Amino acid sequence: MLVLGLPSFHHSGWGLVEDGTVIRAVQEERLNRIKHYPYYTDLNEHPMTLGVEYLFRGLSHQLSDCDAATIPMMPMGKNYHSMDMLEVESIDEVIAQKLKPDYNTILTFIKDQGFTGKIIFVNHQLSHAAYVYNLSGYDTADVISYDGAGCGFPPEVVVGFHVDNHRYKKLFSYHVPHSLGHVYSNTTSRIFGNRSDGMEGKVMGLAPYGQPDPSLKMLVHNTQPDMYVATYPSTTKVHYPGINPFASTFGLRQTAIPQREHKKPWDFDDEGDMFYANLAASAQQSIEDAGMHYVKKLRGLTGEDNLCITGGVALNSCLNGLIRRTGVYKSTFAAPACHDGGHGIGAPLYYCGTTVDTHNYTRVDSDFFGYPYTLDDCRQAAVASGVEFQEFESADLLGQDIAESLVDQKIIAVFNKGSEFGPRALGHRSIMVDPRTAEMKDTLNARVKFREAYRPFAPIVLQDHALDYFEFDSSEFMLFVAHATQKAIDEVPAVIHVDGTARMQSVGETNEPFYSALSHFYKLTGVPVLLNTSFNVAGEPIVETPQDAIRCFMGTSIDILYLNNLKIEK
Ligand SMILES: [Fe+2]
Repeated sequence: MLVLGLPSFHHSGWGLVEDGTVIRAVQEERLNRIKHYPYYTDLNEHPMTLGVEYLFRGLSHQLSDCDAATIPMMPMGKNYHSMDMLEVESIDEVIAQKLKPDYNTILTFIKDQGFTGKIIFVNHQLSHAAYVYNLSGYDTADVISYDGAGCGFPPEVVVGFHVDNHRYKKLFSYHVPHSLGHVYSNTTSRIFGNRSDGMEGKVMGLAPYGQPDPSLKMLVHNTQPDMYVATYPSTTKVHYPGINPFASTFGLRQTAIPQREHKKPWDFDDEGDMFYANLAASAQQSIEDAGMHYVKKLRGLTGEDNLCITGGVALNSCLNGLIRRTGVYKSTFAAPACHDGGHGIGAPLYYCGTTVDTHNYTRVDSDFFGYPYTLDDCRQAAVASGVEFQEFESADLLGQDIAESLVDQKIIAVFNKGSEFGPRALGHRSIMVDPRTAEMKDTLNARVKFREAYRPFAPIVLQDHALDYFEFDSSEFMLFVAHATQKAIDEVPAVIHVDGTARMQSVGETNEPFYSALSHFYKLTGVPVLLNTSFNVAGEPIVETPQDAIRCFMGTSIDILYLNNLKIEK
């Protein structure tokens, strides 16, 4: 069974899934080069259609081979929360419904391109859940899904599931305005401006500089019913008839808080800036209190050992780290496209899970679901752009050269095969530097990344050495913030945050060029840790093609680009 995953209108991720296995996935932003597409973009000017050609590029499959296409929401007018999935045989019937948001452009496009399969509507939170459950490799698991506004009426925003062999049982569900995601999006807009969707990670990085303020508490526990209640306006953007936008008469009125002048450099000796740091710390504590409560509640209901964390709030790696640290579950798992981009494979995985008989319970160790650009593709791009290059015969030789360049204090970029699906750069589209001096972080910021100086950079560490440096023995997807050991604080200060933590990624031998680079860096220096950040510049999506990589490299102060097995220097 071949299933096309149509994108949601947040983060716009496409996917192609065959019998429960991900064949390919990509976010439209990587192709049209518009970051956070389509938040602020005219869909008529940039229709969401580039993903279709990309998904099938180089495959024997065609769009006309698809048995179905999924939409990660239910059509309005249906009893949304009582339905998990809705199958419609005819695409014309769906087009006639004129769905909101407007799927007709996409549906008409795929129909014109030869699609003749069914249209499958999948409940938004089930799609989030299926995304993480299928990648986790667990046969049974609890799934906590929490996001901003979800879908439906009223939107579900916190849902606890138990999953047993692809059978999903909903155990609890809470609705807008009691949203953990809105705590973060509202706070982000106060600090970074009204067009700050997707910048929530900046708030998470800011939080350790402040102290939670009880008067800024954004979610408080109610015993009847047992839930965390929002103390802020439900949202500044959307109003849902019948729902009181003010969940309580006390607490924060965030819209009354003036917006920070976000062009101003951060100064933590300034009282005004410390207010916003305290606001960030209050938001973080609010979602940690509520998130932990729901996780413990779920564990209490099921006694399950395995937990999957999903929904956009699962990008909060500090909360994920706290969940893992407290040991409520023996095993925890999260994956990077837990935000709405992941629906491109989440909804097809849900559909396949309910319709395919045999299932493969193997945890993925990477999310390189993009088109696998070959060495030939890279060579052609290099020749066409007129740059000179050197070619290495093996990953090991390439890794050795990368390590030597890093020891030589170069800023390097790496590009390899298929891109990561979601917002984390995990080895195929990365910029790397030597983390052994704190100054390297400032150099990287001043020359390439131009990020706020307070924001942390993340480490990669050889899997076998993870516990020497960090609290957790593994974290393949950079989604669990760990306490750093004293050894890490002493040896790799460029990747340790102000509170002594790090958003670690452990690297095993299948992840090239990271594995060879780390191994050789360890041989040369005795340190199995490097700094890794995404291969892009501020305001742009992560690079997708070899051409994007060369263009980004030439336009910045990156010293060396390793494009597959090619080395390009300025
Ligand atoms: Fe969502």
